[in-house]
Amino acid sequence: MSVSVTSLPAGEVVVRPLTGALGCEISGVDLAHLSDAAFADIYQAFLNYSAVMFHDQELTQEQFAAFGRRFARLEDEPFLPHRADVPGVFYLRGAPRDGKSLSTQNLGWHADHTYQKNPSMGAMLYARDVPEAGGDTLFASNYLSYEALSPAMQVFLEDKIAIHDVLQYGLKSGHYSTATPKAIEVLLKMRQGFPQMPHPLVCKHPETGRKMLYLNQAWTVAIQGLAPDESQAILDMLKRHSVKDIFCCRFRYRNNSLMLWDNRAVQHSPNSDYTGQRLMWRVALHSDWVPGT
Ligand SMILES: [Fe+2]
Repeated sequence: MSVSVTSLPAGEVVVRPLTGALGCEISGVDLAHLSDAAFADIYQAFLNYSAVMFHDQELTQEQFAAFGRRFARLEDEPFLPHRADVPGVFYLRGAPRDGKSLSTQNLGWHADHTYQKNPSMGAMLYARDVPEAGGDTLFASNYLSYEALSPAMQVFLEDKIAIHDVLQYGLKSGHYSTATPKAIEVLLKMRQGFPQMPHPLVCKHPETGRKMLYLNQAWTVAIQGLAPDESQAILDMLKRHSVKDIFCCRFRYRNNSLMLWDNRAVQHSPNSDYTGQRLMWRVALHSDWVPGT
C-alpha cells in the first residue's frame, strides 16, 4: 500500500501530491524491478493524480517498454518517425528555441491521438538527456475544468459532440513537426487514415467514472449542430477555460526522470523554452476506450 511522506519504510511506494489540482511524484520504487503490489499502488496513483513523475530511475529500453506494457499494449506514434531499438519505443527529440521562433516552436496544449476513435490511454517519457533548465511539461485536468463550469453550461454541453481533426491544427500550429513541407505531406497522408472524428464534449473517464470536459486545444475544431460562429466562440471559451492555472501542474525533468500521464484525463503542453539538446524515450499506451462509452 502507498504511504504518506511522513513515513518512509524501505520498499514502500511513496506518493507526494504536487498541487491541489493534479500530479504527484512517486519515490521508493525501482521501476526496473517492480512487485505486483507496488505496481498496483502506482496504477492507483495514476488514476488518482492523472500525471505521475518518478526520478532517478535506471532503465534499459526493454525495461522502459516492459513498464509501459504493464499498463497496456504499446501503440504507434504517427508524429514520431524515430523508432528506437525496442518495439514501441520512440525517440522524442525536442524543439529547442533558435532565438527567433520560440512561440511558433511550441506545440501547445493537446491530448494525444484524440483524432482517432480510440485516443491513447496514456504515455510515458523517460528523460535521457535534458537541458539544465527548461523543457518542462504542463498538464491540465479535464475533471477540474468540467467541475468548474457553471451548472447551466454543464447542461448545455451534456449532449454536444465535438469534432477532432488531425489536419487543421497541424497546418496552423507552426510547430517544426507539422509546419515543414515534408511534415504537411505526412499530415495530409494521415488525414486519409484519420477522417474527422466525433467525440462527446462531456464524458466519463472509463476507469474512475468521473465526468470530464473532453476537448483539447490542438485537435478539437468544431461543435456539431451549432453555427460556425457559435461553435468557434464556445470552443474558444472552453479552450481558454480548460487550461486555467488552477487546473494545472508543471513537471521538471532531470536525466533519468520518468513522466507518466493519463491521456484521457488531461491535456498536456511541452514547453520549448530551452536551448541545446533534449532527448526522451517515449511510449504510448493503447486503449480500446471510445469516449462517451
Ligand atoms: Fe503529446
